[in-house]
Amino acid sequence: MRKTIIMKAVDLCKSFANNGGQNHVLDMVGLEIYEGDFTVIMGSSGAGKSTLLYALSGMDRPTGGEVYYRERCISHLKEKEMAALRAGEFGFVFQQAHLVSNLSLFENVTAAGFLDKKKSGREVKDRAEKLLLQMNVEKAMNRLPSQVSGGEAQRAAIARAMINEPGLLFADEPTGALNKRNTQEVLNLLTGLNEKGQSIVMVTHDIKAAIRATRLLYLEDGKVIGEMSMPPYRSEEAKSREKQVDAWLSSMEW
Ligand SMILES: Nc1ncnc2c1ncn2[C@@H]1O[C@H](COP(=O)(O)OP(=O)(O)OP(=O)(O)O)[C@@H](O)[C@H]1O
Ligand SMILES: [Mg+2]
Repeated sequence: MRKTIIMKAVDLCKSFANNGGQNHVLDMVGLEIYEGDFTVIMGSSGAGKSTLLYALSGMDRPTGGEVYYRERCISHLKEKEMAALRAGEFGFVFQQAHLVSNLSLFENVTAAGFLDKKKSGREVKDRAEKLLLQMNVEKAMNRLPSQVSGGEAQRAAIARAMINEPGLLFADEPTGALNKRNTQEVLNLLTGLNEKGQSIVMVTHDIKAAIRATRLLYLEDGKVIGEMSMPPYRSEEAKSREKQVDAWLSSMEW
């Protein structure tokens, strides 16, 4: 069965001014993201992975080219329209949880929910509770971010990213600041969301995270130079997937 394209980049460019010259971080990137995939983007440090994620998700403006979300070109939207699209359709998880420090975990999640005007207050609160339970952080949900562990904060950040039922969940090194156990827990949660149909685009340096992918893209010198598809993750196959991803990365000279 052919997969549906949920996001597409055409000739995407991003340059930064640099000592009087231009640093072309994204150089005519073309790529397609498929609905239902757990897409992982890898590449060396400085390759432009975060820049690509920000350009795709409308957090930053590309300097050239187009991004399409479900066939709609989103590259020339006014800032207000872009903000509404981001709030309603995209979820974000970063290396740090970036929770609002004077709000409880629960309030952090509901505050994001209220940005999307389609739901009533009751619906937002019910969904926030359900998500915090699903993310296994319900015991800490009335505490402030300073009163919870790094793993709990990151799980709350995933709940916040999921509150508006995003079409696409973006994650930039979501396990980069976590210990081994919390890393596995967060990866299991992301894999669980993907199994239920959530489309995910995740940047990572960690092979243990990359093996969760159903599709991998490799970014180098501002271009996507390689890709590989894999069947959905099964924990019994973790070791063989690690070998497969490792070999693929070696072929990319990672
Ligand atoms: N706002 C900015 N102004 C100028 N240069 C920038 C800016 N943001 C990123 N860059 C440059 O663009 C390049 C790519 O950065 P980016 O953060 O996308 O890399 P990355 O692949 O995510 O790296 P890492 O794996 O270390 O996170 C780097 O050379 C970086 O210095
Ligand atoms: Mg980065």
